[in-house]
Amino acid sequence: MSKPSRYLVTSALPYANGPLHIGHVAGAYLPADIYVRYLKGKNEDVVFVCGSDEHGAAITIKALKEKTTPQEIVDEFHKINKKAFADFGINFDIYHRTSAKIHHETAQGFFKNLFEGGKFIEETSEQFYDAAHDQFLADRYIMGTCPKCEYDSAYGDQCEKCGSALSPTELINPKSTLTGNTPELKTTKHWYFPLNDYEPWLKEWILEQHKDWKTNVSGQCKSWLDAGLQPRAMTRDLDWGVQVPIKGADGKVLYVWLDAPIGYISATKQWAIENNKNWEDYWKKPDTKLVHFIGKDNIVFHCIIFPSLLKANSETYILPDNVPANEFLNLEGGKISTSRNHAIWLNEFVADFPGKQDVLRYVLCSIAPETKDSEFTWADYQARNNNELVAIYGNFVNRCVVLTQKYYKGEIPEITAFDERELKVLEDVKVAKQKIEKSIERYRFREAQNEMMNVARIGNKYLADIEPWKLIKTNPEEVKEIMACANVIVANLAALSSPFLPQTSLKLTDAFGLTLTWEDAGSEELYKKLKTIKPLELLFTKVEDETVIEQVEKLKKPEETSHMPQKESIAFDDFTKLDIRVGEIISAEKVKKTKKLLEIKVNTGLDVRTVVSGIAEHYKPEDIIGQKVTLLLNLEPRKIKGIESQGMILMAEDNENLQFVQPSEDAVAGSLIG
Ligand code: MF3
Ligand code: ZN
Repeated sequence: MSKPSRYLVTSALPYANGPLHIGHVAGAYLPADIYVRYLKGKNEDVVFVCGSDEHGAAITIKALKEKTTPQEIVDEFHKINKKAFADFGINFDIYHRTSAKIHHETAQGFFKNLFEGGKFIEETSEQFYDAAHDQFLADRYIMGTCPKCEYDSAYGDQCEKCGSALSPTELINPKSTLTGNTPELKTTKHWYFPLNDYEPWLKEWILEQHKDWKTNVSGQCKSWLDAGLQPRAMTRDLDWGVQVPIKGADGKVLYVWLDAPIGYISATKQWAIENNKNWEDYWKKPDTKLVHFIGKDNIVFHCIIFPSLLKANSETYILPDNVPANEFLNLEGGKISTSRNHAIWLNEFVADFPGKQDVLRYVLCSIAPETKDSEFTWADYQARNNNELVAIYGNFVNRCVVLTQKYYKGEIPEITAFDERELKVLEDVKVAKQKIEKSIERYRFREAQNEMMNVARIGNKYLADIEPWKLIKTNPEEVKEIMACANVIVANLAALSSPFLPQTSLKLTDAFGLTLTWEDAGSEELYKKLKTIKPLELLFTKVEDETVIEQVEKLKKPEETSHMPQKESIAFDDFTKLDIRVGEIISAEKVKKTKKLLEIKVNTGLDVRTVVSGIAEHYKPEDIIGQKVTLLLNLEPRKIKGIESQGMILMAEDNENLQFVQPSEDAVAGSLIG
C-alpha cells in the first residue's frame, strides 16, 4: 500500500482465565508495542487496541471446577493482566473487555448484518453432549484417538501430533474431558458460515496479493487452503458469551470466531468515544493500515476466518495489510505450560525484578520466535544482560556521562562544526537508523533491535579508539569535539531505543532534559539541541549466577510436585495388590555417612521390621518415636547403604516439606488400609 494515513494495530485478546507469561509477550504483545512506539515516534496517527477475551468454554469450565462464577474469574484476571501489561510498558491505547455492553452490541450487530444478508447456513446436527453437566461440549473438551495418525489424545478440533484439523465426531473412542464419560450425541441447531465459498477469493488475496507476508504465516494459510475449507459454526450452545440475537436461539452464544476478533472493533469504538475520534476512519477507510499481531495458534483465525467475515459484512471493512504472527517460545528445554506451571509469569517477573522490564523486553525481543520456535533460558538472559546491556549499552552511556561530568560539569561542549572523523561516525549512526526503520517495517524486530545496539557499539568503539581520557592532557580542544560527538551518539541512542527500551530511553532524555522523538535521530541538527547531561545511575547491572540458579530452581519445583499431571490409570486389581497398613515407629537412628537417610524400626502388627527412609533432613530421629505411619508392607526388600529396607513409609511431598501420611493417633498398628 502507498503511505497509509493512519494505522490500526491489534494484539490478540488474551483469555481472562489466567495470568500472562513470557510466551504471550514474545509472541503478540512486545512486537506490537515496539511497532506502535516506533510509529508514534514518527508522529503517525495510530491506535493500538487490545483487551480481555472473557468468553468461551474454558472460562465456564474453570468456574465449574473452582466453584465460582465466570464473571468472577474474568473480573480477577482482567485486572491482573491489564496491570501486568501496563507495568511491563505495553502501551495499549485501550485495554478493553468483551463483557462490555458495547462489545455485545457490536458483535450482535455484526452477526445480524451477516444473518440478514443471508450469509449463513442454518443447520441442525448432532453434537456431543455431556449429560452429567447438562452441557454440549466444545471441541476442545472432547478427546479421543486421531483417525489419521492414531494418536490417542487428539482434541475434537485438532490432533496435536499430526496437525490435522478434525471435527469431534471423527474421533475414535471420544471422551468428555469434563467427566471422562463417553459423550452422547444430541441434535442442536446452529448457524454456519460457508468458508468454502470464500476459498477462491482467499487464495487470490493471500497467496497472490500478499506475497510479503512472513513465510510461517503464508505457509500455514496455504496448507489450510490446499486442504479445502469447510463451513464453520458461528454459534454454540453455552450460557456464557454474547447471546445470538435472533428468535429461537435461546441458550446459544456467538462462537469465538464471531466474538473475540469483533472485540478489536468494539475496543476501537470505545477508544473513539473516550478520545473524540471516529472509529470508522480506522475500520473503513482504505488508507488505514490494519496490522494484527498474534501467535501462531491464531493464524487461521486472522488470515482466513476473520477476513472472510469482514468481507461478507455489507459495511465495507478494511482487511489486514499484514498479520506478522510469531511462532512459540519454549522455556528451559520444555514447552511453556500453564497447567504444569512451567512458565515465567509476567506479573511475577515485574514483582521479582522491579525496574528491570527493559531487560526482559530486550531479551525477549532478541530471541523472539519470528520465524521458528525459540527458547528462553535464564543463563541466556544473564548473558545478554551482562554482555550486551551492561557491557555495551550501559558502558558506553556511562563513560560518556562520567567524562562529561568530569571535564565539563555536565555542560556539553559547544562546537561550530564536526570534523571528518566525527561526521563519519555520525553517518554510521544515521545508516543504522535507516536499517532499523527498514527492519521494523518488515516486522523483523530482532534485526532492528540488534541494529539499535550497533549504535551503542559504534559509540563504544569511537571512545575506545580515541581514548579522550589520554588526549585531555595533550589536546583538550579536540576532546571538546569528541565529547560533543559522544553525547550526540547517546542522544541518538535515546531516540532509537525508545521502541525497544522505553524506560531506559526515558532515563536518557531526562538526563538531557529534553524530549527526543524518533525523527531527532540521525539529524545533523541534533547536537544543537543538547545543552547538558545530568549524572545518571547505572542503566543496567549485572545479573549474578545466584539469580539464575534461583529462577531455574523456581521453575523446577512446582513441576515436580503439586502440578504433576495425573499418572496413567490403573486397574482396581493393581490397587488391591498393595498391602498398606498402619505402623508405629519404635526406634530411629541416622544411617552413618549419609545426610538424608534414617534407619527406622516399625511395628507393623505382624512383626517389627526395618525401613530405610530419606527423611533425615526433615525429621530428627528422637522426634518421631511413637509416630503412627502409613506403611507399604509388601514392597520388595531393597538394600540401601548395606541395610535391608523391608517396606516404605508413605510421605506427602510438596515444594519444601515432607509430611507423614498420618493415621489418626488411635489407629492400631497393623490395621489394613484400603
Ligand atoms: N482469546 C483467544 C486466544 O488467545 C483469541 C485471541 S485472538 C482474537 O487464543 F482475535 F480473538 F482476539
Ligand atoms: Zn493425528
